Amino acid sequence: ATEEWVRVADYDDVPEEDTLGTEIGGVPVCLYKLDGEIYATDNKCTHGDADLSDGLIQDGCEIECPLHEGRFDIRSGKAASPPCSEDLRSYPARVEGGVIYIKLVQA
Ligand code: FES
Repeated sequence: ATEEWVRVADYDDVPEEDTLGTEIGGVPVCLYKLDGEIYATDNKCTHGDADLSDGLIQDGCEIECPLHEGRFDIRSGKAASPPCSEDLRSYPARVEGGVIYIKLVQA
């Protein structure tokens, strides 16, 4: 597997305590800004056909799916509340010169 850091967005594009849905090489990715810190996960809910970027951030660190209100931990992608049981893929993120990069792993 090869790993590469890919530019996804500008830091200022992601609102504080909110999300930005985007796409990298055909993969829908959701970016989050919590307390100034950037996190990235897949944007598609593992339970159904919903975009997590349309959901709400709850309890400071969870994303609530807009469709059935299941939740995931934004920092780890772990399923946190039913009906979500399958974890989300999460991506390491870093910010350099006002630009957000995430690490994609290609099989
Ligand atoms: Fe996300 Fe059902 S589609 S909780």
